[in-house]
Amino acid sequence: MNMIIRKFKGDDEEEVSELIRSTFMKCTSKDFTKKGIESFLKHETPEKLKKRAEKRIILVAAVGKKIAGVIEAKNENRISRFFVNASFQKRGVGTKLYQKIERICRQRKSKVIKIYSSLDAVKFYEKMDYNKTGKAMKNRHGIVYQRII
Ligand SMILES: CC(C)(COP(=O)(O)OP(=O)(O)OC[C@H]1O[C@@H](n2cnc3c(N)ncnc32)[C@H](O)[C@@H]1OP(=O)(O)O)[C@@H](O)C(=O)NCCC(=O)NCCS
Repeated sequence: MNMIIRKFKGDDEEEVSELIRSTFMKCTSKDFTKKGIESFLKHETPEKLKKRAEKRIILVAAVGKKIAGVIEAKNENRISRFFVNASFQKRGVGTKLYQKIERICRQRKSKVIKIYSSLDAVKFYEKMDYNKTGKAMKNRHGIVYQRII
């Protein structure tokens, strides 16, 4: 598969936002309450994504003209969004995105990377040698997560 990892750019927001929303609904939403799903989707719009891109590191995996995955880091040490389109999963796209953002975080002197992972992705992070800290939690918006460091 011919894939490049590149920075999010100006006109990616519609496609990337749709990728996040559809992958979330397909893979992640099953562990959320109804309120949690509504709360996640409310913040996931092309406009808000574009705004976040001004401050955060956002990388995409491009396969031909299609965007297959996205990863986003906040404050150089916290992964805040990470989604690979279901039809591209388990083909190494997530690993490539993760390795690249980890390298950028290290270059910016982050020693620790914090992740509030979906339950679905915990196995992925364990394969990347990350460790769970504590038990799965649910926040006041009904969003379920597992802390990983
Ligand atoms: C987590 C996610 C980004 C991984 O992307 P991916 O492209 O499928 O990952 P890779 O193909 O690089 O997988 C690397 C390894 O992890 C394993 N893996 C990936 N996702 C997995 C999952 N959900 N469950 C179990 N193992 C998984 C792969 O089988 C592979 O193992 P291998 O090297 O032994 O073959 C993707 O599954 C996804 O978008 N999930 C839904 C959204 C989500 O939960 N995001 C995380 C929010 S923090």
